[in-house]
Amino acid sequence: MHPWAATAISCANIALIKYWGNRDPELHIPSSGSISINLDGLYSRTGVTFDPAALADQLILNGENAPATALERASALLERVREMAGLRFHARVESENNFPTGTGIASSASGFAALALAASRAAGLELDEASLSRLARSASGSACRSVPGGFVEWQAGESDQNSYAFSIAPAGHWDLVDCVAVISQTHKSIPSQAGHRLADTSPLQAARVADTPRRLAICRRAILERDFEALAQIVELDSNLMHAVMMTSSPALFYWLPATLQVILSVMAWRKGGVPVCYTIDAGPNVHVLCQAGYAPEITERLNQTERVMRVLTAHPGGPTHLLAEVD
Ligand code: DP6
Repeated sequence: MHPWAATAISCANIALIKYWGNRDPELHIPSSGSISINLDGLYSRTGVTFDPAALADQLILNGENAPATALERASALLERVREMAGLRFHARVESENNFPTGTGIASSASGFAALALAASRAAGLELDEASLSRLARSASGSACRSVPGGFVEWQAGESDQNSYAFSIAPAGHWDLVDCVAVISQTHKSIPSQAGHRLADTSPLQAARVADTPRRLAICRRAILERDFEALAQIVELDSNLMHAVMMTSSPALFYWLPATLQVILSVMAWRKGGVPVCYTIDAGPNVHVLCQAGYAPEITERLNQTERVMRVLTAHPGGPTHLLAEVD
């Protein structure tokens, strides 16, 4: 085994209060804070080896050479690690997601969180959780939330130093289930990185950002008190606000497909009919349908029977990013 090698595992996450728009797009210092749940069982496994003989950084994603943009982002993170560790070697990175690509589950969050831990350990660094979260954030904003476990809040901060995520409750605190209704398996048209840059062109973004501390407080309390009805209302409002900003940006961003709205309307009708369930949608057409564990089989069944829902993935709250193997 190589002396400068480590492998880490990290869960994907779903935001309950969304991150959309940056005050510093280079460092991913967000315009406002966000809250998410790590998704157990949907993870990236990333191995890093610093190699004195390598002439450049190399990134293998799911067994194939990664696109240049992904390699650039990984290299920038590796560069930060090399600076911190006083190391000059290039690295070989191999990353795999266990969830199917093109299902709308963002792999950048889990991939870059796992890369932050694997690369820092492979370089001989022992970073604390906040520093790891900051390192992951430098590559992809939402990745900072996959570093701590369970229910996680990313405090926006205003600099590289104070913009990081921490756990507000462990995974075992509340057995919520994310039933992901997959509507389209094709890649999203506008990557979120480009979308964030458009947020401030919407006249609604300033109002959304100004109201975020209120929504964060309601969401935090709903999680801590396991109050599903309060959670449902704030989660749907927050998702609708983000999509309203997207739809009113210049140019306008429409991530929804007709089937997205169909699932939204079904979920609203189910809740009205007494089933505690709510929806949230990221930068894509698939709908994350949240419920408490006891309702998950019924919700999965209902979603499977919904027209144009191709498949349903389910995930419970997941733990923190952790090392799989370390060689000194
Ligand atoms: C809609 O973290 O993917 O999923 O920082 O440019 O990598 P970059 O963006 P990314 O944005 C995620 C946007 C979102 C909402 C969220 O996860 O909070």
